[in-house]
Amino acid sequence: SGFWVVVPAAGVGKRMGADRPKQYLPLLGRPLLSLTLRNILAWPGLAGIVVAVSEDDPYFAHIAEAGHPHVHRVTGGAERADSVLSALNYLAGRVPPETTVLVHDAARPCVSLDDIQSLLADDVSPMALLAQPASDTLKLGASDGNRQVVEKTLDRSRIWQAQTPQRAPLGELQRCLREGLERGAGITDEASALELAGHQPQLVEGQRDNIKVTLPGDIPLVESILRLRYA
Ligand code: CTP
Ligand code: MG
Repeated sequence: SGFWVVVPAAGVGKRMGADRPKQYLPLLGRPLLSLTLRNILAWPGLAGIVVAVSEDDPYFAHIAEAGHPHVHRVTGGAERADSVLSALNYLAGRVPPETTVLVHDAARPCVSLDDIQSLLADDVSPMALLAQPASDTLKLGASDGNRQVVEKTLDRSRIWQAQTPQRAPLGELQRCLREGLERGAGITDEASALELAGHQPQLVEGQRDNIKVTLPGDIPLVESILRLRYA
């Protein structure tokens, strides 16, 4: 029993533009992926973690958590959804299809235990994700020659920004991701695959500081959050 966590960590970090994939950049002196795995290993009820890394990844074996008995490694794929599906396929032969799986980006080391407990609460739907209500006024852009202009302002009250973890039962998530990928639909998170199959995952409000390290400027921001968290 307990839940499993899938960590997609097979990206190249194109937007970061660093000398190695961003999940291996040092934050406060530790590789980002190591910080994320250390965080997850402290979640009560954890049964294990499956990390998806690239086929020729030379870094993973050197991080402190790589040899942890709860940490399993699989080979990821071309897109994030391929990496997640590879981890789910690994799990499917080992645990029952009803098993709760949380998918969590390697690039989000700051998620708090409070948020994990909100997502796993008894009254939350088996399919759910952490998300943040949009706080800025939102504009829909349109091209006008070589400029972008405002076409209109969107109704912010119903807009949420998806975070991770996202939870679902193993078997159904595996089926939805596989079928979504076969249809070639742009699947950028687990919820989008579940939506395509007709599910309506629950939006669980998370904290703003569950930032995904994406651009170089995110690094000092995340380091200052981590300093407070682990002070
Ligand atoms: N990821 C993955 N397999 C891929 C692509 C992404 O496992 N083929 C992982 C990343 O390693 C990251 C998470 O999915 O932990 C979120 O993706 P993103 O922030 O987009 O990371 P990258 O794809 O590496 O960055 P970029 O899009 O800038 O190249
Ligand atoms: Mg990406």
